[in-house]
Amino acid sequence: MIKKLAITALLALALPVGGAFAAGSEGHVEDYDFSFEGPFGTYDQAQLQRGLQVYTQVCAACHGLKYVPIRSLQDESGPGYSEAEVRAYAEQNFEVFDEELDDYRPARPTDHFPENNAVGAPDLSLMAKARAGFHGPYGTGINQLVKGMGGAEYIASLLTGYTGEQIEQAGTILYENTAFPGGYISMAPPLYGDDVEYANPDIETTIEQQSKDVAAFLMWTAEPKMMARKQAGFVGVVFLTILSVLLYLTNKRIWKPIKARAKE
Ligand code: HEC
Repeated sequence: MIKKLAITALLALALPVGGAFAAGSEGHVEDYDFSFEGPFGTYDQAQLQRGLQVYTQVCAACHGLKYVPIRSLQDESGPGYSEAEVRAYAEQNFEVFDEELDDYRPARPTDHFPENNAVGAPDLSLMAKARAGFHGPYGTGINQLVKGMGGAEYIASLLTGYTGEQIEQAGTILYENTAFPGGYISMAPPLYGDDVEYANPDIETTIEQQSKDVAAFLMWTAEPKMMARKQAGFVGVVFLTILSVLLYLTNKRIWKPIKARAKE
């Protein structure tokens, strides 16, 4: 019985995390360091701002972020822009269709980011949580205990993972990519280096830097409350620790007279 249960449990564990990835080869995901990793990690505000810039100037041509309200760019634990900056950003970068006006108008902070523009390009709002970077060993996902889910690492690896090779399949061009499961993706390499100009001239605009920045930004869009969650978790652990000590002491105290009597 126990043996049977153990085998079933092992089999369940062995199923790959993302079902769709079961077939084909697993891509290589680089274990990039991000500021938000670890129990006390926080988002790096300057990095989120750079990532927003890469998203806006490059990725937004095809990918939407329809679940993200533009005003959330004001979040203190997010990009942390001022209200005026967010309003200017919305107006300058996006147009939305207004049903009341029956026409397009410049976006406002109360709007969400627009939906996708390109056929086949998935919405990126939740992508950093929809993809896991680490599946091993043998698809058990045990690496995730140490390295985390790796959604941001996957996105950064995907953007840096183009080999430059391409093939044509049924009239579609597929680009070889070392991170994409199966090895070929229909997204043309979106970054070439120097795709944007950062406000801080000390930060280079290499493909890798821009990839990490936009990956961090997409982690934030997928989990804007990560810091609050970690904090709540930490408070919970402290609370439970104190509670355990108190319960232990209470237990000792309650049983003391009875134990003393038993010794007599
Ligand atoms: C020219 C249009 C275009 C641009 C620009 C573009 N993408 Fe894509 N992207 C696509 C398409 C199409 C797919 C679907 C590819 C597939 O499934 O083969 C895709 C897929 C993706 C995926 C999902 C991969 C997966 O695991 O399914 C991610 C993540 C992604 N893009 C990120 C980005 C980022 C970040 C940028 C900006 C740096 C960007 N893309 C720019 C067209 C684009």
